Amino acid sequence: MKLYENISLKHYNTFGIEAIAQNFIEITNYSDLIEIFKSHILQNKNFFILGGGSNVLITDDYNGVVLHPTFKGIEIKEKTDVVVLLKVYAGEVWDDFVDFCVKNNFGGIENLSFIPGNCGAAPVQNIGAFGVEIKDCIESVEIFNLLTGKFITLSNPECNFGYRTSVFKNEYKKNWLIVSTTYKLPKVSHNYKTHYGNLNDELKKYEDINLQSIRQSVINIRTSKLPNPKEIGNAGSFFKNPIVTTEKASELKNKYQDAPVYPISDTEKKLAAGWLIEKSGWKGFKNGNVGVHSKQALVLVNYGNAKGNEIIDLSEKIKESVFEKFGVKLETEVNLL
Ligand code: EPU
Repeated sequence: MKLYENISLKHYNTFGIEAIAQNFIEITNYSDLIEIFKSHILQNKNFFILGGGSNVLITDDYNGVVLHPTFKGIEIKEKTDVVVLLKVYAGEVWDDFVDFCVKNNFGGIENLSFIPGNCGAAPVQNIGAFGVEIKDCIESVEIFNLLTGKFITLSNPECNFGYRTSVFKNEYKKNWLIVSTTYKLPKVSHNYKTHYGNLNDELKKYEDINLQSIRQSVINIRTSKLPNPKEIGNAGSFFKNPIVTTEKASELKNKYQDAPVYPISDTEKKLAAGWLIEKSGWKGFKNGNVGVHSKQALVLVNYGNAKGNEIIDLSEKIKESVFEKFGVKLETEVNLL
């Protein structure tokens, strides 16, 4: 187990926020987990699990222990003529895993190409894009209790997945670390999902529709709309798309015919936060270190040396103005530390 003191987190979060962690532990294998538990190093301390740092906003120096899992590995657990069960460890880079699946002709997660971050964080917020969420491919999630030393495996229903949420954001948030996730992916007769947004249009550039061309199309769209965190600090969508009553959605649609409204159920609809923010005049806004991305208003950016609180202040102003104009409350999607 590698333990560091007073380490800068700037290169461990895609927002590129400078902050100091009092302690930082890199977890490289299973025995590190046991060692952390046996050493009681976390007793009576604040601690936080940081994966790829692509969905977190650090608001201040951290007076506690940051745990950073780096153990990698993809294991084929079972293969039949129709499905494959794959176990992937927390420190594996998410997009490397997607690339591995596409290259091996395992379908199901190709629409989730190029999402930044590590595999350990993916189930936490049930990552989703282009009409696919990982909950549809997860068989189970193995977790470790850092304070009791207990490993357990939760089945898909036990993870209680929802839109950008799961038990790992709620009852299993405190003290539990995701060790590995097992995916169940179809091997043949892929059920491609290409209806979302402009994915179909982008696919026309390719001769065939297959896992590789879908992956490439998703990468093309993402790189054209979303800022590259290596160039401009950001954490993807800063807000969730709000879920409102069907009456509220109809009221909005009557007033603004171009408002995107997505079906959820008879009683609820999902709105596009990016559209609401753009219509409130924020798209492309820049003030000093912080701003709103010019091609996707859902994404807040750090243009240089922003402090976490500057991003929070901007997000609060956006929330207020969207509420004033549309009567819709936006919720933060990124985790705050
Ligand atoms: N829109 C605007 N203005 C904007 C942004 C969007 O009018 O500035 C409109 C678009 O024209 C479209 C609608 O809003 O009609 C939806 O936009 P888009 O398809 O870009 O997707 P999104 O709902 O804004 C979600 C995810 C993204 C994911 C995309 C593509 C959330 C919070 N965000 O964004 O995920 O990549 O769909 O599937 O659900 C992330 O979670 O970090 C993330 C980037």
